Amino acid sequence: MSVKQIAILFSGEGSNMEVLIKKLHQKRFDDFEVEVVAAITNKPDAKGIKKADDLGIDVIMIDHKSYDSREAFDMKLVETLQDLDVDLTILAGFMRILTPVFTDTIKAINIHPALLPLYKGADALKRSFEGKETTAGVTAHLVVSEVDGGEMVLQKSFDKTGMDFDTFEEKIHACEHEIFPKAVIKVLQNLH
Ligand code: GRF
Repeated sequence: MSVKQIAILFSGEGSNMEVLIKKLHQKRFDDFEVEVVAAITNKPDAKGIKKADDLGIDVIMIDHKSYDSREAFDMKLVETLQDLDVDLTILAGFMRILTPVFTDTIKAINIHPALLPLYKGADALKRSFEGKETTAGVTAHLVVSEVDGGEMVLQKSFDKTGMDFDTFEEKIHACEHEIFPKAVIKVLQNLH
């Protein structure tokens, strides 16, 4: 049986990372097993660091403030992921815009708190809440150089009519936690 190695990049709470580790790490899917080889953060004070530690996953700190340019930071990410021999990289609340240095080299999937192609970019959760549509949701998608512009892997939507912001935010996170592990497995199944 083969092992598919993944690394998870995060910047803050790390709730998606936590769910991914719990649902995927050392679990078997069809003819492969998933191994979370590391969690990587760019934020020394990210709350998710403790979550990964508690789950026994190595945390690697790559502070973007130590690099002179986005490209230099991205090169360090690429080298680290290549050294780890990762099959797929997961962006789980990783709050950095990535340059082609990263996106042209690394196969990655991201979770976005809106129904792409609506509300690409920053503050999507708030903008989606305030938007005139009655339906909202989340999207797992492949990462390309255009921010939130890659091929969709999975989406989940819900009716937001009458929701206050806190309920909306909770629902968004619940949807993310439901579809992101499934989307990761879907991409891994199609890797050669
Ligand atoms: C999620 O809402 C995700 O869609 C966005 O950042 C948030 C990260 O949350 N990109 P967490 O750190 O996984 O709790």
